[in-house]
Amino acid sequence: MRENWMSKRVRNLLLVMLASLPLTAQSGPSGQALAFTCAGCHGTDGSSVGPSSPSIAAMDPDVFIDAMDAYKRDQRNSTIMNRIAKGYSDEQIKAMAWFFAKQKLRLHVQKTDRQLVELGKQLHDTHCEKCHEEGGRAGDSGTLAGQWIPYLDFSMQDFIEGRRTYPRKMKRKVDAAIEEQGEQAMPALIHYYGSKH
Ligand code: HEC
Ligand code: HEC
Repeated sequence: MRENWMSKRVRNLLLVMLASLPLTAQSGPSGQALAFTCAGCHGTDGSSVGPSSPSIAAMDPDVFIDAMDAYKRDQRNSTIMNRIAKGYSDEQIKAMAWFFAKQKLRLHVQKTDRQLVELGKQLHDTHCEKCHEEGGRAGDSGTLAGQWIPYLDFSMQDFIEGRRTYPRKMKRKVDAAIEEQGEQAMPALIHYYGSKH
């Protein structure tokens, strides 16, 4: 008897959990509940443990929402996020944006080249600091400081090769950095951001 009652409870609980999955729910689940589905790649609190998934903890909510919208509309190059983003309503994306914005970004020590880091710092200070303040700390131009190096590398290649639309006025600065230091410019900048932890 008791066993039956238990399994019924378990079944009901499962039904409730299923109902709160993103693809079926229209509203209701909190940002935190929705964020469970992101944990496998972005970490449980948005600090990703793998180098190809960016950390999204402490991300500015507007930048987060813009990124998800761009993925949803196939306007930003992606390996996986365009498919994932399509499963969420605007309201759910907003809830997740606020959840992740409140998480503390935990950075990992990454292997970097000291000379590249130094050159990257110079380039950053001249060309990028204006928008990516405090060495690229999480802010309204996204998160560069401490971001995973392979992810930054993909992102820069997407901009430079035209698979991702540049934010206004960023292209000029990237071009200027490349003009100044040639092929070393992007690796240097990326090592500089990756060296922060
Ligand atoms: C299977 C792994 C995977 C899952 C699950 C996943 N992501 Fe992603 N996410 C990525 C990768 C990889 C990228 C880089 C773009 C790409 O290649 O698709 C990314 C990029 C992003 C970005 C852009 C970050 C930036 O700095 O611009 C946001 C925002 C994001 N994901 C949010 C989410 C949210 C919210 C969820 C859960 C609903 C989620 N992701 C689930 C792998 C994943
Ligand atoms: C005029 C302002 C501006 C300048 C200057 C600028 N950026 Fe950006 N950058 C932005 C904004 C805004 C975003 C976020 C919006 C977006 O993702 O489209 C961004 C996003 C990025 C991203 C993507 C981050 C991600 O999560 O995918 C990288 C990498 C980047 N910038 C690198 C640079 C570098 C390197 C420089 C200097 C050579 C630079 N930016 C100069 C405004 C700027």
